Amino acid sequence: MSKLRAAITGVEAFLPDYVLTNAELELLVDTNDEWIVSRTGIKERRILKGKGKGTSDMGAAAVLQLLSKTNTEASEIDLLICATVTGDHQFPATANIICDKVGIRDVASFDIGAACSGFLYALSTAATFVEAGVYKKAIVVGADKMSSIIDYSDRSTCVLFGDGAGAVLVEARENFGIRDSILKSDGHGRQFLHQKAGGSVMPASKKTVDEGLHYVYQDGKNVFKFAVTKMADVAAEIMERNGLKGEDVAWLVPHQANQRIIDATARRMKLPPSQVMMNIEKYGNTTAATIPICLWEWEKQLNKGDKLILASFGGGFTWGAIYLEWAY
Ligand code: ACO
Repeated sequence: MSKLRAAITGVEAFLPDYVLTNAELELLVDTNDEWIVSRTGIKERRILKGKGKGTSDMGAAAVLQLLSKTNTEASEIDLLICATVTGDHQFPATANIICDKVGIRDVASFDIGAACSGFLYALSTAATFVEAGVYKKAIVVGADKMSSIIDYSDRSTCVLFGDGAGAVLVEARENFGIRDSILKSDGHGRQFLHQKAGGSVMPASKKTVDEGLHYVYQDGKNVFKFAVTKMADVAAEIMERNGLKGEDVAWLVPHQANQRIIDATARRMKLPPSQVMMNIEKYGNTTAATIPICLWEWEKQLNKGDKLILASFGGGFTWGAIYLEWAY
């Protein structure tokens, strides 16, 4: 008997119009295009401009496009999960706000905060609900307005991040879809990558704002050390336990934090660069949005049955991999 699996049946994305180039960053901080490109692979990133515009605006735009493209009515959706670390507010969940903005009513909707691994955590969660038959049509959004928590006088972080959103529709399909997932975390890693103020440990105050404690703090060297091994390890682990060799995999869909981390993962999987989705040069690190944005950009090159490995590493630390067979 064929098995019903949760599958991605549509993908869309939203990228803001404003392009922040390395040349413009050179005017803000002591950096240069050569340093940024050689250390990270990033040439430009998108920034959401406009007073009162937040993560939900980008998520809602991606979801509206997704509903239209897949001929799905808002009333057919019964679950929406948003992965983000830059929610519109501490509460309510940005997922609730996206639902309101696109006309999805009376459904389960909530946020998942797993930083750069958020999309994989959210996709795996939605897939579990769909495979169990609890929900029929789920939407998973990965969206972050990283520019809202970046200090544009800190050259070690401001060159890395950008804004964007991606969204996928998840439904049950025979045979194709998500075959395996591995999600991991190690909270000890929080010391290297976090936002110091604005939470319950250090609520917002004039002092925290004056000291810039609401911005991303990252010890890049230490994060790099973990990221480069953990993302490659988890990609290798999911291949091994599913009996996959490099030649079986059509595409690696990696989180876009640093080209050197992606290259190390691809080498470990024995995949040539031509089978690695990489658009970091155009968008930088959009945190929870990188993986769905890649799927959206490469959608036309994907064929039914293609074996994809999605892999990520991020704040927490969190990391993970999903093995799926493309369903359309
Ligand atoms: N321009 C010029 N020089 C710079 C810049 C810049 N933008 N930023 C840092 N430097 C300098 C540093 O000050 C340092 O100078 P020094 O040697 O005189 O002290 C030198 O460059 C080297 O700095 P490093 O931090 O050691 O540079 P590194 O090669 O490690 O690259 C980077 C930094 C790109 C941040 C890298 O460490 C990295 O990619 N880390 C991992 C990021 C990641 O994966 N994050 C997880 C996801 S994010 C999330 O979850 C929200």
